[in-house]
Amino acid sequence: MGKRAVSPGGVIDGVVELPGDKSISHRYAILAALAEGTSVISNYASAADCQSTLGCLRGLGIEIETTQGTVKIAGKGLDGLREPRRTLDAENSGSTIRMMAGVLAGQAFPSTITGDGSLRKRPMRRIIEPLRLMGAEIQSGEGDRAPLEIRGGKLRAIDYTPPTPSAQVKSAVLLAGLYADGITTAREAVATRDHTEVALREFGAKLEGARNEIRIHPRPKLAAQQLTVPSDLSTAVFLIGATLVLPGSSLMVHNVGLNPTRSRVLDFFTSIGAAVKIATVQMRSGELVGDVSVRHAPIQGGTISGSRVAEMIDELPMLAALGPYTEKGIEIHDAQELRVKESDRIAALAEGLRRMGAKVEEFPDGLRVEGRSAGKLRGAKVDPRGDHRIAMALAVAALGAEGDTTILDAECVGVSFPEFFGTLDKLRGGEKK
Ligand code: S3P
Repeated sequence: MGKRAVSPGGVIDGVVELPGDKSISHRYAILAALAEGTSVISNYASAADCQSTLGCLRGLGIEIETTQGTVKIAGKGLDGLREPRRTLDAENSGSTIRMMAGVLAGQAFPSTITGDGSLRKRPMRRIIEPLRLMGAEIQSGEGDRAPLEIRGGKLRAIDYTPPTPSAQVKSAVLLAGLYADGITTAREAVATRDHTEVALREFGAKLEGARNEIRIHPRPKLAAQQLTVPSDLSTAVFLIGATLVLPGSSLMVHNVGLNPTRSRVLDFFTSIGAAVKIATVQMRSGELVGDVSVRHAPIQGGTISGSRVAEMIDELPMLAALGPYTEKGIEIHDAQELRVKESDRIAALAEGLRRMGAKVEEFPDGLRVEGRSAGKLRGAKVDPRGDHRIAMALAVAALGAEGDTTILDAECVGVSFPEFFGTLDKLRGGEKK
């Protein structure tokens, strides 16, 4: 695909069902591999990241069949993984490397896991530290980066609070806790997404405690499951963003994941004046699922800081890119984590939006994007720095600009939403490629 031109205008009008949630897909796949029997996972994410998890599991001797969004995983039980013949490759996926490290720490064989250029720059100390405390030996690249060489086996139970709120770190500790010699506790000051806890329970693990303190009992017998992954709300947010940029638009997303640890962004949209409605909510395998509809309305803008940052971490690029379409602008603080995502998202957003004529102030821990009064955006050539969420956020911002925008390396959207441009065009009534 290379670069991609985005023409402004059109009206979003339609009903969509989106590919499965990326976070939930990773977890279902990992737990299916550790369960006994064959699990069938429907609406498995089309995201390249979730294929990376399947690739790592295959490298550990797990047989996986995929057909049109359905994945069948022949689980081999907690002790059924095989020593990999070569280095496991998490590619661009932080969730894969960090959660798999938790599993690998519990294995009696050594293994090495790495990733692409972006992943090899991201911090891994956050998982190395608790896994070492549990007794795993981990060698890393320079500066606690991947590749990670992991020798585990006999793990001690720990009581751990990650210094930075992170669902990936919490998950690594809980997954390693499956192999520990006692009850492992993961605590968090700010509740991050709890899909690991929900999925572990579904597969039959014994967990206790509430939101901010989760205890996992070791060595459960996990049983194969039949599961359907809800549509990805973090993906839907880009289409909701497009609906808010284009006057006259309306959108309905079916069967979208509404887990309260993920859906804060919908409350935020409502708080800034977006007309968001939720209907037909039901519980499926411990996950809340429902239909979300949104109509275009003028939005106010506002500030995101404190605990709301962790709750909406993946949505911040889209929210920042909506800044020029708001009355008061969008301001984000306490979000230094954005600098260590697939790219430095603060710098990438500031650069991309400025190129389009937005007025942006960058802070060490966030940014401020001025609202409508700073003027209309104009089409420009923008570089998403290989980061899927930056590419999609800038593409949505481009919909209300004057003139076409060129997104470089636009294929990076495949990391979470390969169908992004096609879906956007279809919803805008067959916009040209
Ligand atoms: C994820 C957790 C978050 C999020 C990432 C997916 C997960 O990362 O940004 O896209 O599936 O657990 P952190 O744990 O680094 O906050």
